[in-house]
This record gives sequence, structure tokens and C-alpha cells, in this order.
Amino acid sequence: MQKIMSSIKYLLLLLVFAILCSPFKTQAQYVKGELNDINGRFVNAHGAGILFFNNMYYLFGEIKKGKTWLVPGQQWEDYRVPAGGVSCYTSSDLEHWKYMGVALAATTGDTTKDLDTGRVIERPKVVYNYKTRKFVMWMHVDKKDYSYSQAGVAISDKPEGPYQYIRSVRPNGQMARDMTVFKDSDGKAYLIYSSEDNNTMQVCLLSADFQSPTESYSRILVGRRREAPAMFKNGKKYYLITSSCTGWAPNAATYAVADRPMGPYREIGNPCTGPGSETTFNAQSTFVLPSKDEPNNYIFMADRWNKLDLPKSDYLWLPLTVDKGKVVIKPETGD
Ligand code: GAL
Repeated sequence: MQKIMSSIKYLLLLLVFAILCSPFKTQAQYVKGELNDINGRFVNAHGAGILFFNNMYYLFGEIKKGKTWLVPGQQWEDYRVPAGGVSCYTSSDLEHWKYMGVALAATTGDTTKDLDTGRVIERPKVVYNYKTRKFVMWMHVDKKDYSYSQAGVAISDKPEGPYQYIRSVRPNGQMARDMTVFKDSDGKAYLIYSSEDNNTMQVCLLSADFQSPTESYSRILVGRRREAPAMFKNGKKYYLITSSCTGWAPNAATYAVADRPMGPYREIGNPCTGPGSETTFNAQSTFVLPSKDEPNNYIFMADRWNKLDLPKSDYLWLPLTVDKGKVVIKPETGD
């Protein structure tokens, strides 16, 4: 009898273990709050994006380190922290992140340089170019008053870097602030950025080596004042999630859909549902990562900015699904 009881106990334990492990495995890919690397250190990668390459996820983001300060004489709450360059972390399961070091280093002592710590380096995104075998990083570079509004580009032979900075540009003479890069299944890549003083977004086709803007660009979400773009493809449709322009304060996300990356885009509405959806659950979009196995499942990645102490900003990664063309970001499920 005792033997039977202990086998039942053993089986029950196994069952509990199995139940606990299975949902937790997928849950762990979602993040609410701090994300730590495998050494228990805070993942310092804000305005991040992910490159999936050779079965490995490469996470790139802004390094925010140091004291937060308010730029005087601005019309808006221009809280700043020294531009720390771009970090890189790798993971094979989106759960255990290994710090790979600084992928793109900031420079010091010359504020006329794009990557000087006294300036702005934001929203880095990396794509791989199969023809040149280079990894290409695009980012928003700016002066502390955001008047420079340029897109910076850097390249590397290895995904984790170090990246070599090439230059910054205003694509076709147009301002470029919050941005992302989208690589389509046909191998073409596009730069998507807030332009025209944040009033209108633009989508610019990149050159075959992904290192320059081409003359081919479109104006989208005209006069809508959107930023924080995150683009993804589902079936034959292109989706673009954006936020409104309220500085570090969260606001409602919306999404738009198009038949081609350059648009025209049709605005649909808020992909978030439930309480908190009016502030994107207190966060701002930065990237949408497609699941490698399930065609309608994605991870929506967002930043929870802490404007008074920017390095304390943390993250929100939520499940995003596309159901018959409708984008849904599932609400938080507790802390
Ligand atoms: C946000 C933008 C961030 C950062 C911030 C500065 O609207 O999305 O990337 O630029 O403004 O206030």
C-alpha cells in the first residue's frame, strides 16, 4: 500500500511539474518590468529591436546609463541621459539572454560627432544583407534638442558587432526621428521614420546593400503625428504599429495596414484591449517579433519609460496575434 501511495505521490509531483513548466516556458518570453540577463544583470537595451539569424535571437537597444537631466529652454519635457551607444544580447529561446557587449560604442569629448555621449542615439535596428554579408544597423541620431533629426547607419561582419559607424543622413533631405527598419521577404529593406517635424511618417526603400536611402519614398499617416514605428508582415499584408507624440509619456497605440510596405496605409485603431489599453499598458512600441513557428503569433515589444530616471526604464513584451486581419495585443496577465 505504502509503495502504491508513494508512486501516486511521485506521479502527482510529475504532473504538477509538467503543468507548471509548459505554460511558463512560453510565458517567460513575455516581459513586464525588468528583464535580467543570465548573469542576473539588468538588460540595458531600450528602444530595442531583434534580429533572428542562424537560429539565434540578437537583441539590440539603447544603453541608458548615468544621471537623467532636463534640457533647459525646451517646449517639452526633454529629459536626457548620456547616449551610451548600442548593446547586444543573444538568446536561443527568448528567455535566457547573454550579454555580448557594446555593439556600437558612443564617443566622448566632441559633441559635433554623431555618436558623442552628449547627443542622442535611439531605436537601433539591425538587418542582415545576404548579398554583402554585412549586418546593417540603422538608428536615430540627434542633438539634445532633436533639431538634427538624422538617420545613422553602421555595419559589421558579425551580428553582435562591433559595428563601424558610416554616417548619418536625412533621407531625400527629409527629417528622420523615431524609426525602424523592415526587411521584406523579397529581400528589400525599408526605413520607416517620423518626419516633417513628427507630423508625417515616411517609408524609404533602402539601397541594395541597405546602407543608403534611395530616392523612392512615400509619405504615410500624413498629418497624424505618429512615432515609435514597429512594422511586421502577416500573410500578404503589412502592419504598422505606432504611438502618438507625447514625449516619454505613454499614449494609445494604433495600427495601420497596407498591401505594400510603402503604403498607402489604412488606419484601423488601437490593437490593445482591456484596462490600460489607452496608454498601451503604460508603454510605447519599439518592435514586433514574428514567431518562427506560428504564422499569426508575434511578440509586441515596448518600453516603459521612466522620464525622471531614464536608466530605470523597463520593458513590456506581450503576445500579439493577427486574427482574420485584426491585430490584437493581449492585455497584461497580472504582475
Ligand atoms: C519619444 C520617443 C523616444 C524618445 C523620446 C524623447 O516620443 O519615442 O524614442 O525620443 O520621445 O522625449
